[in-house]
Amino acid sequence: MCGIVGYVGPRQASDVLLGGLARLEYRGYDSAGAAIMSEDELVVVRRVGKLVNLREAIAGKPVPGTVGIGHTRWATHGAPNEENAHPHVDCSGKIAVVHNGIIENYMELREELAANGHVLRSETDTETVAHLVESYYEGDLTAAVIKTVRRLTGAYALAIVHLEDPGTIVAARVDSPLIIGIGDGENIVASDIPAVLEFTREVLVLEDGDVATVTANGVSVVDAAGRPADSEMMHIEWDLAAAEKGGYEDFMLKEIHEQPRAIRETLRGRMDATGKMQLSELQMTEAQLAAVERVFIVACGTSYHAAVVAKSLIEQWARIPVEVEVSSEFRYGNPIVGEDTLVVAITQSGETTDTLAAVREARRRGAKVFAITNVVGSRVTRETDGVIYTHAGPEIGVAATKTFTAQIAALTVLALKLAQANGMLDQKRVEALWEELSHIPEIVEAILADANDIAECAAEYKDANSSLFLGRGMGVPVAMEGALKLKEISYIHAEAYAAGEMKHGPIALITSEVPVVVVATQGHTYEKVVSNIQEVRARGARVIAVATHGDQDIQRHAEHVLYIPAVSEALSAIPATVPMQLLSYHIAKLRGCNVDQPRNLAKSVTVE
Ligand code: M6R
Repeated sequence: MCGIVGYVGPRQASDVLLGGLARLEYRGYDSAGAAIMSEDELVVVRRVGKLVNLREAIAGKPVPGTVGIGHTRWATHGAPNEENAHPHVDCSGKIAVVHNGIIENYMELREELAANGHVLRSETDTETVAHLVESYYEGDLTAAVIKTVRRLTGAYALAIVHLEDPGTIVAARVDSPLIIGIGDGENIVASDIPAVLEFTREVLVLEDGDVATVTANGVSVVDAAGRPADSEMMHIEWDLAAAEKGGYEDFMLKEIHEQPRAIRETLRGRMDATGKMQLSELQMTEAQLAAVERVFIVACGTSYHAAVVAKSLIEQWARIPVEVEVSSEFRYGNPIVGEDTLVVAITQSGETTDTLAAVREARRRGAKVFAITNVVGSRVTRETDGVIYTHAGPEIGVAATKTFTAQIAALTVLALKLAQANGMLDQKRVEALWEELSHIPEIVEAILADANDIAECAAEYKDANSSLFLGRGMGVPVAMEGALKLKEISYIHAEAYAAGEMKHGPIALITSEVPVVVVATQGHTYEKVVSNIQEVRARGARVIAVATHGDQDIQRHAEHVLYIPAVSEALSAIPATVPMQLLSYHIAKLRGCNVDQPRNLAKSVTVE
């Protein structure tokens, strides 16, 4: 996720770009840059780190000019350094491009461009776009961009300028957001509405496949087929503060709603045309993957819960034994890992001290270590043998939501890859699971669209002091994550148990004052879960069940039922988690808690 701003009009472009980028910094902040038409030169300024570094560079050496494009980056391809910062330029330095998204076929494009004599200077997928536009340019920038985007697969929002057409920005999008703020004698291209609100509330929303030609006095848009597009204009009522959170009250709620996109982006391109799962980042041959005999996963907090989901999937599909340990225990234990062990470290931030220490310990013992992280260039990426990125975009709320479900998506791909490599799953089964996995974003969308009853349910339980979360099988990590979400943002004591363990102690806690949240989705232990519900209800508990649409019977056993669409048991962790997140969110809000910055917590735990 990156932020894009483009300006054409009478104002100084650098002011508008810096102001707009500041409002998009939530989308990424590892580097920033701008390209401005300054007299007869295209001036590009790029700086590593937060936007303030770019601001200082431009303040020190102003770049006059009224047309330009700017970018704040959340790295996906290549480290967050100056060479990889946007804008990227072509060989002549006359064409500049900013991009948000992932161009999946960039490797083949790079090879083709290099073979045709282009010199690429960065490691990014984006730079290919600048060179493609250069190769197609014959005096009409829009025509060159249309030819370029036809060569791209993947997701992109692009803003492109050419020194030979100095009053124009050409913008295009597929699967990444892009809007145009329509002003009076000025227009602003942006990834999101907050960037334009200072200048206009009239916004044109580009559709997938659209290519827009933007000048100070007008915007013309063609669709993917090259026909004039029927673009939608919107009048924005939000004030700026609301707009930064996309109209949501809090970042946490916004991030919960960003999950379909985060999961989609994480899964993008993970199965190739021949039906092979793609995890080339592991840099392991099929034979090496097939030879993996043990997996050890280390992580903390929410990431640990993703690890528990992964254990279940890898053991079930690839039949490889998996151990899971919290990093803080691993680092001081005497773990049995060695050259035969594949160690996976899960950390959304990539900076968690305990997990980094566990990584070092595992490597010291000879293991190959891979990271799953959301942050390109983070510490863990420099200390491991390979990295699988989740593409959730920056998570601002301290409570992990979209990064958790994106981790599960990435780990599901890993489990499928291992099972495909060692032949434990046949090709038909892999393809069927992949097909179902690809539809999980839509299932999450459906849950989010029909979530009113969760807020009503929250109102009834907001005054609880203590709660229990139960599940079996895949429901166990979901219950663990549900309990963590509730305790960290609402400060209600919440404990998670494997439902079968209740009778061995925790059932003593049950009273009518202790709500019990039960993952009761369809699966091979469903009947057992219903029995566990009966046990707690017999002791006066009020039960909130997360169940599968169509299960009417469960209503006889629970005070509240939060339904999710039917999904196979192995893939149920993501959908079952979403109602838990929303339940915790609404309870916390009703208790007046700050859900984005809960007390005593930090987003990255860089202390022991
Ligand atoms: O960045 P990491 O994934 O390594 O962070 C680990 C935990 O601190 C983190 O998952 C924490 O539990 C969540 N923010 C809780 O919502």
